[in-house]
Amino acid sequence: MAADGIVMAHAPGRVNLIGDHTDYTGGLVFPMAIDLGTTVRGVPGGDRVRLQSALTGDACNVPLRIDDPARVEPSWARYVAGVVAEIEPRRGFDGAITTTLPVGGGLSSSAAIEVAVALALGFDGDAVDLARSCQRAEQRAAGVPCGIMDQLTVTAGIDGHALLIDCTTLAITPVRVPDEAVVLVLDSGEPRRLAASAYAERRAQCEAAAAIVGPLRDATLADLHTIDDKELRRRARHVVSENQRVRDFAAALETGDLDAAGEAMTASHISLRDDFAVSTPSLDHLVAALDETPGVYGARLTGAGFGGCVVALATPGAVPWTTPVRPSGGARVVIDSQ
Ligand code: GLA
Repeated sequence: MAADGIVMAHAPGRVNLIGDHTDYTGGLVFPMAIDLGTTVRGVPGGDRVRLQSALTGDACNVPLRIDDPARVEPSWARYVAGVVAEIEPRRGFDGAITTTLPVGGGLSSSAAIEVAVALALGFDGDAVDLARSCQRAEQRAAGVPCGIMDQLTVTAGIDGHALLIDCTTLAITPVRVPDEAVVLVLDSGEPRRLAASAYAERRAQCEAAAAIVGPLRDATLADLHTIDDKELRRRARHVVSENQRVRDFAAALETGDLDAAGEAMTASHISLRDDFAVSTPSLDHLVAALDETPGVYGARLTGAGFGGCVVALATPGAVPWTTPVRPSGGARVVIDSQ
């Protein structure tokens, strides 16, 4: 039985199967929550949020009134501070934080911290409200104008399913991941350098393209000819074609056409590499090696790019040295004995 006053909240990480750099243009994404995640456990109370990290050995100690989360140390505590600044909890928390996620490895370890902390601090609201608060927390903590995909996947994950998310309406359509396929995540080992500034630049380019052709979500490839700047046109072409690939991928998964699903993933990688320019030689190398591996349907970089991870869809056992990630349920309060 849980001791009185203990609260424990768990938030999964996520991997995006297809649909990258589309969320902040109101487009389509297709991620899933995974069976690795972050847990916060402790006792609410006091006027500070104190969490001891089992992973790094240090602690965060954040006051309840905080103006600039981006300056807090240690750096992982910025995500805690961002949440505190956003949700302004009435009381603090004293406890510990543990994780099974690789930190900074492109599986949304920061979104998992934010959501687990918000729930432990008693956030009251639905999955979309929670995701929006944590998205703002991330923007304040990391200074990156991120979209809502990571936080919404973490809050709304459904066991056994990936989520087709419409980032204009935030409608979520769960799609079962067939038992005949496994999802693999492979780390390129390359740190995501320049990610923050390059991400902001890509987002600004999408906004500049939308100022010419209207919302990229509604644009067709033919519309893009009115964009004179070649680089801007390529960025927009990625977004418009990626939205279609998300639809194709979701339909292929639903009908069990794993070859077609894999083809959409590989085409997505090429578009992210050539049109959106967010790949790296290590990511390209990993994707090429996976594409040549028997039993792998398709592979692509996942998340923001500039390093980080590759995701692949494969038959079970095709890549024996990697453990598949399982589509999992979303964040939850596991114990609340108050
Ligand atoms: C990061 C951001 C997301 C999304 C992806 C790219 O993970 O946090 O909002 O934009 O990059 O798809």
